[in-house]
Amino acid sequence: MAIGILTSGGDAPGLNAVIRAIVFSGIQLHQLDFLGIRNGWKGLLEEDIFRLERHHIMGISKHGGTILGTSRTNPFEYGGPDRVREVMERHSMDALVAIGGEGTLAAAKRLSDLGIPIVGVPKTVDNDLDATDYTFGFDTAVEIATEAMDRLRTTGDSHDRCMVAEVMGRHVGWIALHSGVAAGAHAILIPEQKLSIEEICEWVTRAHLRGRAPLVAVAEGFLLDTMTDVHSERGLDAFGRPRLGGIGEVLAPLIEERTGIETRATTLGHIQRGGTPTAYDRVLATRLGWGALQMVLEEKWGFMVALQGTDIVDVPFEAALGSLKTVPDARYAEVRALFG
Ligand code: F6P
Repeated sequence: MAIGILTSGGDAPGLNAVIRAIVFSGIQLHQLDFLGIRNGWKGLLEEDIFRLERHHIMGISKHGGTILGTSRTNPFEYGGPDRVREVMERHSMDALVAIGGEGTLAAAKRLSDLGIPIVGVPKTVDNDLDATDYTFGFDTAVEIATEAMDRLRTTGDSHDRCMVAEVMGRHVGWIALHSGVAAGAHAILIPEQKLSIEEICEWVTRAHLRGRAPLVAVAEGFLLDTMTDVHSERGLDAFGRPRLGGIGEVLAPLIEERTGIETRATTLGHIQRGGTPTAYDRVLATRLGWGALQMVLEEKWGFMVALQGTDIVDVPFEAALGSLKTVPDARYAEVRALFG
């Protein structure tokens, strides 16, 4: 039996640990053959495929990125199921493991509905996929963001400045919530909760009056109550002014103007997705890889592995699709109490 593996969508620390777990166990315990597909669905459609051997996966769990490369290509825009079938047949590929986020899993579901043998492994640093409690890459992103905020606090303290740290999270605020709590932020701003600039400035001022250099953790998808969709209006800020950067850079001058506290913004960006995965992410990714291999052996096409509680379980693709896992109001209420 030959199994193709692809990684698709934005990368996440832990992808290599998933690949290693599948290939290592598959060769060692079941004498399976593996085909590495480069750059996600793009590589499948373009037949950029190689025999994935044991030596390719030696020692890769601790490395960030993905040895297979990735892209955001949607297979339905280029050839679709007929092309996927044709390539799989030509390479004697009996099954496919697709490791990716919502877009990847949605494409995998459509292909699986058409009879193509696929299983999925969920992946996103944003931790916004439904049906799984945590995704690998999230813990690493939180660690990096927390360390960065700790550093911002020492320079903020020295200059008596308010520091705004913008972290990833296009649609949800899990990274901002966790790193903000860990770093002791004085305000945490997430897409799920619209706030006014006055409210944010009140938290900042109160922290300053307590003798603290305020730290504001903001998710990139956060919107002020006066804003519409930042992503569809990339060119303008909330007040119709040209935007240079993300929401952090929009907020910093507004906070400074209203509070009189000198304010600086830092956007952490892709640093959160690069480099060594944490031990937690390596373990989670390894367990998910093992789970995906079991699904292939059991021919559970149309399913993906998921973490529920402490168990690795199988769920149908549709369980993870349709709605995102957002930060519940009750979780936000817990941290809002800390803003003073
Ligand atoms: O979905 C994960 C994510 O890291 C988001 O937090 C971020 O908005 C986006 O990907 C960035 O995408 P790209 O790497 O394509 O710029």
